[in-house]
Amino acid sequence: MNADDMKKAAAEAAIEYVENGMIVGIGTGSTANHFIDLLAKIKSRIDGTVASSEASAERLRGHGIPVLDLNQVGDLQLYVDGADESNEQLHLIKGGGGALTREKIVAGASEKFVCIADESKLVRVLGKFPLPVEVIPMAQSFIARQLVKLGGQPTLREGFVTDNGNIILDVHNLEIMEPVKLEQQINMLPGVVTVGIFAYRPADVLILGGPDGARTVMPK
Ligand code: 5RP
Repeated sequence: MNADDMKKAAAEAAIEYVENGMIVGIGTGSTANHFIDLLAKIKSRIDGTVASSEASAERLRGHGIPVLDLNQVGDLQLYVDGADESNEQLHLIKGGGGALTREKIVAGASEKFVCIADESKLVRVLGKFPLPVEVIPMAQSFIARQLVKLGGQPTLREGFVTDNGNIILDVHNLEIMEPVKLEQQINMLPGVVTVGIFAYRPADVLILGGPDGARTVMPK
């Protein structure tokens, strides 16, 4: 089984969380894409979706699945999304695909966040994956200096603009021992739109695809 098959196995297991009549929050990335493709097979059972990116919205519409505005639907029962890293508390790093801000909004508006990933994403300490930070363009240099003070090495994600018209700084060489604290510290910097640490609102369930299929991890 390759990593993509493992992502698909996790997505298949997440389909079990979809109940009739739900409006489902949908993440972004290759694992979320598997979930979208599987959701298409049961689309008549759901009332619609809320997408965390233009790319996911386009894929959903391509399958004929309704994409609704979060402002029109209120809170959601379920959000399903991938991650770049998860620790055992189900604190995550997200934003490898650059959709972290809308992902954090939809996750925040959802009762249950089911994270789906291949098993390589489970780590002891977050930070080997460069931490994405979405930043208002005029604050780029200022925020980069603040991130250096916090011990990281930020690099600009070249040629990338988020769905919200902003830039991404990817912060290398962080060992994130206190995810909730660092999430708050970086979020407080003026010019930061969102940091890709999802610890204040972690996942509720992590489904990991491995060579023997999917297994469910609950937060420690
Ligand atoms: C996008 C994300 C993705 O969930 C994350 O990058 C994982 O992607 P993939 O499922 O392709 O491994 O946060 O912003």
